[in-house]
Amino acid sequence: MSLPHPFRLETFGEVTSTNDIIQARAVDGEAEGLVVTATAQTAGRGRRGRSWSSPAGNLYCSFLLRPRPLKNDHPGTLSLVVALSLAEAIGDPARLKWPNDVLIGGAKVAGILLEMLDDSLTVGMGVNIVHAPGHTPYPVTSLAAEGIDRRCDALLAQFLDCFARNYASWNREGFSVLRDRWLDRAEGIGSTVRLRHGERIHEGRFLALSADGSISIEHEGRIEQYSAGELLWHKTDA
Ligand code: BTN
Repeated sequence: MSLPHPFRLETFGEVTSTNDIIQARAVDGEAEGLVVTATAQTAGRGRRGRSWSSPAGNLYCSFLLRPRPLKNDHPGTLSLVVALSLAEAIGDPARLKWPNDVLIGGAKVAGILLEMLDDSLTVGMGVNIVHAPGHTPYPVTSLAAEGIDRRCDALLAQFLDCFARNYASWNREGFSVLRDRWLDRAEGIGSTVRLRHGERIHEGRFLALSADGSISIEHEGRIEQYSAGELLWHKTDA
């Protein structure tokens, strides 16, 4: 597979977590751009300490970045850039749920987990290619269930092409130049949402995404800005 600079691929069979492999290599001084995939994971992890169901057939991939954000930008905006690139690689039906879930028809089809260790950022992506896990606190789907026939390696190559371009823009000009494309795919803007921020849940109208990647939520005439948290908009979301 020919990959855009600086990406290079190593493939594995069953592993604990592709994020573990990237983190170990980062500690050993590996340069930015190593990409690792596995056919299955025995200890796949998701956000908020959840586990990530990882049977063979779906895409499990992690890659190493050593980001140097521009002065006014925030490394957290990279998670929006990863999600945007993945949605662009999947194509039209893919939508974005702040900060970095990819949805089709309101159901989650992919998740992204960023883990920072010193100056290294491990980006882990799980995409439901053929399996959607059961028993999740939110609706889930797979590309196959949505009638999208895509192999793991083809999707990864398309993603890396999109991400390499978007990452170059982010490095040169920051997130603000990608914001409109993120907004074109955003779900929930203008609607009432609940946001879990730490242990608290805030409810209000999701107004906008700022150039620094944070969102504004209006409640009883007061506008609050949040740069982290999790949007909950299904009654079952927990
Ligand atoms: C989420 O909770 O939405 C994030 C899920 C991230 C899962 C991927 S699968 C590849 C990589 N390895 C892991 O252990 N987690 C990420």
